[in-house]
Parts: sequence; C-alpha cells; structure tokens
Amino acid sequence: MGPSEEELRARLQRVGQAHLLRFWAELEPAQRDSLRETLAQLSAEELDEHCRRAAEACARERGGAGQGGLDGSLEPIPAELLGSVCRSDGAMLERWEEEGLRQISQDKVAVLLLAGGQGTRLGVPYPKGMYDVGLPSHKTLYQIQAERIRRVEQLAGGRFGVQCTIPWYIMTSEFTLGPTEKFFQEHNYFNLKKPNVVMFEQRMLPAVTFDGKAILEEKGKVALAPDGNGGLYRALMENKILEDMDRRGIQYIHVYCVDNILVKMADPVFIGFCVSKGADCGAKVVEKAYPTEPVGVVCRVNGVCQVVEYSEITLDTAQMRNPDGRLTYSSGNICNHFFTLGFLRAIAEKFEPQLKYHVAIKKVPFVNEEGNLVKPLKPNGIKLEKFVFDVFQFSKNFVAFEVPREDEFSPLKNADTANIDTPTMARQALLSQHYRWVVKAGATFVDASGQRIDKKHSLSGDEESPVVCEISPLVSYFGEGLETYLKSKNLQSPFLLDESAAEFMAQHE
Ligand code: UTP
Repeated sequence: MGPSEEELRARLQRVGQAHLLRFWAELEPAQRDSLRETLAQLSAEELDEHCRRAAEACARERGGAGQGGLDGSLEPIPAELLGSVCRSDGAMLERWEEEGLRQISQDKVAVLLLAGGQGTRLGVPYPKGMYDVGLPSHKTLYQIQAERIRRVEQLAGGRFGVQCTIPWYIMTSEFTLGPTEKFFQEHNYFNLKKPNVVMFEQRMLPAVTFDGKAILEEKGKVALAPDGNGGLYRALMENKILEDMDRRGIQYIHVYCVDNILVKMADPVFIGFCVSKGADCGAKVVEKAYPTEPVGVVCRVNGVCQVVEYSEITLDTAQMRNPDGRLTYSSGNICNHFFTLGFLRAIAEKFEPQLKYHVAIKKVPFVNEEGNLVKPLKPNGIKLEKFVFDVFQFSKNFVAFEVPREDEFSPLKNADTANIDTPTMARQALLSQHYRWVVKAGATFVDASGQRIDKKHSLSGDEESPVVCEISPLVSYFGEGLETYLKSKNLQSPFLLDESAAEFMAQHE
C-alpha cells in the first residue's frame, strides 16, 4: 500500500505538481496503483528539484549560453595520449592486438551495450537492436553483435589455447527491456550462454514543461524518459552490476552504442592499446569529416579531457588546422569507450552526482486540462539526460584512439527518409567493408559472363560497394582468415559467406 490520495495530493501540492492527480477520480484502481508507484520513485522534493533543474537548464540553453564559450580554454589531446590505427605501423598494431587477445583469453574483458534509448528518430516501435538494415542475411544489429562476441572469443581462445568468455552486459530501459529479453529468448541468445548475457534497466525521469511542470502523458501516467546513456553509472550501482563483474574477474569493460553497425565488440587492438598505456579510461574517436560536422570533439578544456560539443566552439576554432592539414580539433567522439572496473566503480560510487544534465527539447504527447490527448506539433517538453562520456574529467590516465571511420563507425540514427545515418547507409557501410576484405583476401567478383566487376583495391571508405557481399561475423571478425576460403576465387554478387558456405569453400579448394 502506498500513500493515500490525501497524502499524495498534499505532498505534490507543496511542490506545485498537484496537477498530476487532476484525473485521479476517473482512474481505475490499477491505474491509481501504477501512478502511485511512479510517483514513489522520486520524493516530492526530488521531483521538485528535477522540474526546477529542467526548466532552468532549458532557459539557459534557449538563452544561447555556451556558443563559442570554450574557445579560449581549449587544447587538442596531447599527441602522446592519442593512438591511431592509420599512423601506427603494422607491428605495433599487432602487439596491441596480441595484448587485447591475451586479456580476453584470461576472461578479464566484458562488453557493455547501451541500449536504453528510445530511438525516436528511427521511428520503429521496437528496440533499435532488433532492426534489420536489409543485409542478405537479414541479421539484426543484436545478432551481428552477438556473433562478433562469439568470434572474438574464439580468436582469443585459439591464440592462447584456452576457452574464454566475454560477458555481455546490456543496459536497457522501460522501453527496451521487455522486447529485448523476449527477442533474445526467441533466438536462443544467439548461441551465447544465457548467464553470460546480463540485462539491466536504467532509470526513467519525468519530462517537464518549459515552466517546470511534470507532464501527464495519459490521465494516470506521467511522461517518463530514460535518463540518458550516462544513466549507466547509476544503473550499474542500482543493479549491482559492478559486483557481478568483480565476481567474474572482469577488469576491462568496452562500452558501446547499439546503433553502430561496424562496432568491433571487445576490440582487441583498442583494449591492448589502452592496457599497454595503463589507461583507466579511453575513447575511440574518428577523424572529424569536416569542420562543421555536428559531432562532439574529444579535447582538453583547461587541461582536463572532455567532449566539447560543436555548439560550444566558434566556427574559427572548428576550422583550425595543423601544419599537416588535419583539423586541430579532429577527434570525433563516437561513444565507444574503454573503462577499467576500478574507474567505473569510482564514477558510480563517487563522481556520478557531479555529471551534468544535458537538455533535450522534444515533442511530448500530453493530456490537456479537459482530459484530451494532444500530440504537439512544436516541442513542448524538456528531457534531462546524462551522457556516458562526461566522465573523462575524472580519469587519472585518459587516452584516445583514432580509428578509420569506414572500418568502425556507421551509426543507424534515422529512417531512410533522412539523408544521413540511415538504414541504407549502415547497410552500405557494412557491405563495402566486407567487399574490401574479400578483395584483400584475393578474390575477384565477376558477372554472369565471367567479366570482372570490381574497382580492385581503389575502393575508398565512403564509396558504395559495386557488389553485394556479406561475411558472417562467425567466419571473420575483422577480415582475418578469409584467404583460406577466398584466395583466387571468382565470386558472383550477391555473395554471402556464412559458416556453411565457408566450410563448403574450404573443402572445395
Ligand atoms: P542516441 O542519443 O542516439 O539516442 O543514443 P537514441 O535513443 O538511440 O535515438 P533518438 O535520439 O531517440 O532518435 C546513443 C546510444 O545511447 C543509448 C542508445 O540506445 C544508443 O545506443 N541510450 C540513449 C541509452 O542507453 N539510454 C538513454 O537514455 C539514451
């Protein structure tokens, strides 16, 4: 039994939020219970503080604070803290990879997926991880990721002659937990062991009007939204995930977003780089494509590493270039991170309250005073979110690692009606990458009459693949080992190399 209606009303009245009970008299008992439960998650004072904070932060943002404000205090990441795939020699990359595989083989590495977002821009009524971008295999993002975990476990185990496990932690939210669990069950956890897939839920916070009132989405339901991917740190504590990691002997955690179709799960090179540098916190970055690209940049502000949003610097600063022609502030943040368990613990236990809230202004459906549902045409609500990458400032040894965008980053954000980060672009990014692997492994694509149809090695990252070519992650994690099946072979598009095709090709050399 929660508080009585009178108690609840008195509490909410004290903090100017009694409108949340406006339709109480009309609610069924179950709706009353559920509203009570939601309201019990935040005390009246916490609700009050949250609503005030949202309205104030929004007013500041709309007042234009921040534009260019950081210019004077910026410095790029010092060269000694910035590793790079392109600017390192092959032997060095191999050493890092070996180190990463060693850590994986010793069961010290976990992956952590941020999958609590609502995916509003993509606009499908199910979690983004269940999205099929239209590959020949029709694999979903979740399946691709599960298979990459299996493959990299095999690579590490094979290299060091052991069986090893990379536990997969999946942060979900009220929107994504149920369907994600069901999807994994229906697909037998994509042949991973169920105890090694740990799902947990992040917190939800009320959406707030510009004048600081929590929004009623239905007569008996407060509009709630997940507290941002930075809700991770609180969720790790509340769900005792750090204890679970500790019990398993995990020391290093690779955190990534659900929507990057090219994500290298538990990337041994990145992990090996971070471990070799003794880092407690690392960020993978890609070179910014052009000065005004709207991505956050990893840099130093007053000597402290952090991500600076595009809106926080002036165009002049964004356009600055080094003598070699590269942008001075070029390290684009892709929400792909390395953390030690100790670092995560320090954030979760100590620094989390210091992480700032970011304001997202959204269209939030609501019930008006007459009790009618309204779908606003203009943004009317504020959501407050913490960001996963706002923790770099607390690192004692932060490093960044630049990787080629065409190999590692293609996020699925929008529906195909948009002109960027769409399902078509994600599919193309993966097909082009696999085509490059196949050509490198010595195969040639021919048409029905045997004529070559390739551009050979000249295919650059953002070029569309001339053929449809997909390699199962169960066959190759990052292009390795394909010569065995493909050297000197003539292939026809569409080409799908899954486990059974690989076995067949290996037998018919
Ligand atoms: P985005 O910021 O792109 O948000 O999330 P989104 O929810 O996927 O999409 P939109 O903005 O509603 O269209 C980047 C990553 O952070 C995760 C997402 O699931 C995605 O992997 N995320 C985001 C969370 O885990 N929790 C959140 O509260 C928000």
